[in-house]
Amino acid sequence: MRAVTWHGRADVRVDTVPDPTIQEPTDVVVEVTSSGICGSDLHLIEVMAPFMSVGDVMGHEPMGVVREVGSQVTAVKPGDRVVVPFNISCGTCWMCSQGLQSQCETTQNHEQGFGASLFGYTKLYGQVPGGQAEYLRVPFGNTLPIKVPDGLPDDRFVYLSDVLPTAWQAVQYAAVPPGGTLLVLGLGPIGDMCTRIAHHLGIEDVYASDVVPERLTRATARGTHVIRSTAKDDVVQQVQDATAGRGADAVIDAVGMEAHGSPLASIAQKATAVVPDAVMEKVMQVVGVDRLAAFNTAVDAVRRGGTISLSGVYGGATDPVPLMRMFDKQIQLRMGQANVWRWVPDILPILTEGDPLGVDDFATHHVPLEQAPQAYADFREKKDGAVKVLLTP
Ligand SMILES: NC(=O)c1ccc[n+]([C@@H]2O[C@H](COP(=O)([O-])OP(=O)(O)OC[C@H]3O[C@@H](n4cnc5c(N)ncnc54)[C@H](O)[C@@H]3O)[C@@H](O)[C@H]2O)c1
Ligand SMILES: [Zn+2]
Ligand SMILES: [Zn+2]
Repeated sequence: MRAVTWHGRADVRVDTVPDPTIQEPTDVVVEVTSSGICGSDLHLIEVMAPFMSVGDVMGHEPMGVVREVGSQVTAVKPGDRVVVPFNISCGTCWMCSQGLQSQCETTQNHEQGFGASLFGYTKLYGQVPGGQAEYLRVPFGNTLPIKVPDGLPDDRFVYLSDVLPTAWQAVQYAAVPPGGTLLVLGLGPIGDMCTRIAHHLGIEDVYASDVVPERLTRATARGTHVIRSTAKDDVVQQVQDATAGRGADAVIDAVGMEAHGSPLASIAQKATAVVPDAVMEKVMQVVGVDRLAAFNTAVDAVRRGGTISLSGVYGGATDPVPLMRMFDKQIQLRMGQANVWRWVPDILPILTEGDPLGVDDFATHHVPLEQAPQAYADFREKKDGAVKVLLTP
């Protein structure tokens, strides 16, 4: 089959790789019909490159049609339409039963000391072949795939794999009080969807910061107050002006470690390009690199006693977190990979009744799988209006 494969920094290609097969009696094989490119994929071709290997199949936002099932699979059958969550969770362990699927005890990566495996991600998360491909092997066929109805385009459901539950969890973790103010940092797909969900859940005062014009336009169109800057002082000032000097009740960081304004981050990114992977892998695990521009904005923009909800992904074991300031401001902090299945029962009914979140035209680009390298480049450079790209195998 054809698949998007990792070859190095800023280098993905479309290669022919072996078709996936049923390996366990609970596996299913899905023929992929749509597959998103995510901001998290960009980390893999940047700072997380030392944890990737040439030939790794990328992608963790797929949906499609079940083609083959193992002998013990009863929950889905060939022909069923399914979305595949980005975290690989068994659905039956203690963590899964608590709604903490990203900490699944069956797929945790003990050797690396990391949580549940992810499709198409680094060796820290199991190095499992991903879904930017024609076919995908999906384990836990009775509990992992999300069955979705036929009859509507893929765009209606595909974001159940990641964008929707990630943004939903970010808004839930933000815990905005009634009448309160939410600030969203970053208007990529995740931040954009956070603002939509916040409005949908009745949060009226939603602010968002970014500098990419088309991303700001999308947010403005749906009633979000945009801050056309990512500079900490600008953002903090504007939020304080809007909140009697207090700051936002909650801030969602939907940026993560590729934030603008983190001077040392670009040095680290350049270093990963010249220092051997084995050395850089160690460096990433034990050394702090200040890539915390967005997080620091969150700490300063949130009001005393407020909440920061972190959905942007960070790396670097000893990044200098401003703990004294966080303690003094009495900040609550919640974060983590989205527990996809935790939120499916809340989100799926919203998608089948109508389209209040605007998912039908959320994607800016539908691109054939063969053109993935160009699509990655455009998404990375934020060129050609690329906000969300769906690949179609
Ligand atoms: N927690 C999870 O389960 C989960 C799931 C999916 C994605 N993510 C993470 O969420 C983050 C966002 O993903 P995305 O697909 O929207 O990515 P993206 O790269 O498209 O969007 C990031 C946006 O942040 C803006 N930005 C950069 N620096 C900023 C700053 N200092 N202040 C404000 N805005 C800034 C950029 O201009 C860009 O528009 C990534 O870190 C990704 O890895 C987490
Ligand atoms: Zn994703
Ligand atoms: Zn589990």
